[in-house]
Formats: sequence, structure tokens, C-alpha cells
Amino acid sequence: MNFTLRIWRQTDANTDGDLETYKVQDIEPTCSFLEMMDILNERLTERNVEPVAFDSDCREGICGMCSMVINGKPHGPKDGTTTCQLYMRHFEDGDEITIEPWRSAAFPVTRDLIVDRSAFDRIMQAGGYVTVHSGPKPEPNAIPIEPSIAEEALDAACCIGCGACVAACPNGAAMLYTSAKVSHLGLLPQGQPERFERVQKMVHQMEAEGFGSCRNYAECEAACPKEISIKFIGRMNRDFLKSTLILPNNPRGKMDSQ
Ligand code: FES
Repeated sequence: MNFTLRIWRQTDANTDGDLETYKVQDIEPTCSFLEMMDILNERLTERNVEPVAFDSDCREGICGMCSMVINGKPHGPKDGTTTCQLYMRHFEDGDEITIEPWRSAAFPVTRDLIVDRSAFDRIMQAGGYVTVHSGPKPEPNAIPIEPSIAEEALDAACCIGCGACVAACPNGAAMLYTSAKVSHLGLLPQGQPERFERVQKMVHQMEAEGFGSCRNYAECEAACPKEISIKFIGRMNRDFLKSTLILPNNPRGKMDSQ
């Protein structure tokens, strides 16, 4: 298969970027999208052209590193699929494919297709943890959990933190990511001690990072490679509202006094 690629090239965060055109020929339909990018880079290197910088790690759809907007869609044309799980047979021979980085003020482009997603790390650091006692491992059945609750928590825990939700949102909101992280901990008994403190801290950090606000476009849900539901945003909003009643001014002080 032969393709014409229009790829965003940018030297660093402080310089302007632009789309550059490359032809790739003799690509097997069984080739993954990232393998096709590897082949392009090998051929560019042979010609002494700087290879295209892009993120990847597991290439199994579990780490969330492969962040590319392909023909205007985060992770490309196939629903519920990360870029690394996309194959060239999903395109037509002769296609022109436009490849860009995530676009969000909170995700600055560091080089070509790589963006800085450390804002997500800081949201997690703000409250994405549970308090556990050190010592012997507890008996797994000591805390019974309703199967429907466990299922819902696992649905939220599917979030791989890739940032496609932010890239797809017209407002650059990170509500789907933050709500998935808040919910997978807040649904389980082990996550209850910090539940309301957690939602306040993570929402405040999300806002401090410069992400936009949710307007219910639901583009995030459509773009999510793990098909995480926007119902988690509603759940996070309800928890946040409750937290303002339970912890009106000082989350930590109120929690400690309970
Ligand atoms: S490289 Fe890990 S999810 Fe794509």
C-alpha cells in the first residue's frame, strides 16, 4: 500500500510548526500505524532527514502513550482503538493521511507529535491515591463489594490517561479523565476515607492546569479508546457538590475532625 502523509513537524515548544508531506510506499496492510511510522523514520534517517518524533511504549493499547490526531480524530478512524492498535488495512491504498499532535493549551507540543502531558500526572498527584495500612496483605474477601459497584469501578479504571478526551473536546476539558480517576477510587470501599477531599483536590488541580470546562459535547466519550462513559463526569460533579457541603472551606481540617 502507498500513502501520502502530512505530518506536523515542530522543533520545540518555542518555535512554530507546520505540516510537511512525505510519501511512504510498499507498506503491508498488516503493518500497524506505528510500524508504518517506524518505516518512514528508517527511510528518513537513510536520507539524513530528522526522523519524526512520536510517543509510544507498550504498543498493546494499555499505556496511553501513542498520542496522534489522525485525519482530525484522536487515535484515528477506528472507534475504541488506540493509535498503536490501528492497522494500515483500516485505510485505503493511496490515502492521504494527516497526522498531528494533541491540540490543547494544557498539553504543549514539545517536538513534532509529542506533547507534554504532565498536567495529568499533577492531577493524579493531587488526590489519586488511597490510604492503606502497611503490614500483612489483608484477606481479599474481608471487604465485600457489590459486583455492580466493582464492575463500574473497573469501567472507570480502564482509563489509560492518553489524553484523547482532551484532544477531542472543543473546550480542551479534562473532565472525562479526571472523573474516571475520581470514580474508580471513589466507588470502592477502600477509596471512601479520602472520597470528598479527593474530588475537591483533583478538580481544583484540573482547573489550575488550564483545562477548559465541560459543555456536554460528549466528544471525549466518542474519542476515548477505552470507551469510558461520560456518566462518570456526572458522578464526579455530584461528588464535588456533596463535598462542598461536607467540606465547606478546609477539606483536610473537616475530614480530620470527623
Ligand atoms: S503505545 Fe501504549 S497504548 Fe499505544
